Amino acid sequence: MSGSEQDRVQAIYDEFAKTYDEHYSAKEFQEEDSALFKIVKPWIQGRVLDLGCGTGLTLSYTDVSKENYLGVDPSHGMLQKLTAKFPGYKTVENTFEGFNKTNTETFDTVLGLYGAPSYFDKEDYKEVLEALNPKGHYFLMFYKPGYFPSHIYTPEDIEAAKARIDYDLINETFENTFIFTSYLVATNIPKEFLPIGNRT
Ligand SMILES: C[S@@+](CC[C@H](N)C(=O)[O-])C[C@H]1O[C@@H](n2cnc3c(N)ncnc32)[C@H](O)[C@@H]1O
Repeated sequence: MSGSEQDRVQAIYDEFAKTYDEHYSAKEFQEEDSALFKIVKPWIQGRVLDLGCGTGLTLSYTDVSKENYLGVDPSHGMLQKLTAKFPGYKTVENTFEGFNKTNTETFDTVLGLYGAPSYFDKEDYKEVLEALNPKGHYFLMFYKPGYFPSHIYTPEDIEAAKARIDYDLINETFENTFIFTSYLVATNIPKEFLPIGNRT
């Protein structure tokens, strides 16, 4: 996305960070989190790269050690919350695209939970796979077609963002896709472990 759009997203998340955890502590979101981690937790293993890690949701639901975790997020406000809750866990204050320019490490697990990959430049979708060890697993939650969180964005932001996400490319680039609540998940977790309907 353009530099000015990325600046705007960061400003929005810096502000939202102040109430993010309270907002998502509502019962409906806790139930969504439980359902999500039931699917993904068994696959979160080894070195974990948490893209758009926010305030540290992954760390709230798993027991990934400090040595095995790296969170990447451009929002200073979101990362401040993560560090206050999980001292000693390493984070990088950058976009995935910026981080990826100099990163040489590969990971056993690459996560992008609850919409974070929707902000990546589409040219960088395939770069997620480059950051993965050969036997590793990725789990990326894009906003599903037609959805964008309207409680934090203006209608103009939403139109620009919707035009930016390339769903055809997501389907071409990643192995399996399925809808989970408001998200299009792209993952290489085998299909038999996913809640994919209408399988033959
Ligand atoms: C909806 S929040 C999700 C946070 C966390 N994954 C969770 O599930 O609670 C989206 C996050 O993506 C981050 N983000 C925005 N643009 C990004 C980019 N280009 N690369 C990585 N993260 C980005 C935001 O700062 C925000 O923290």
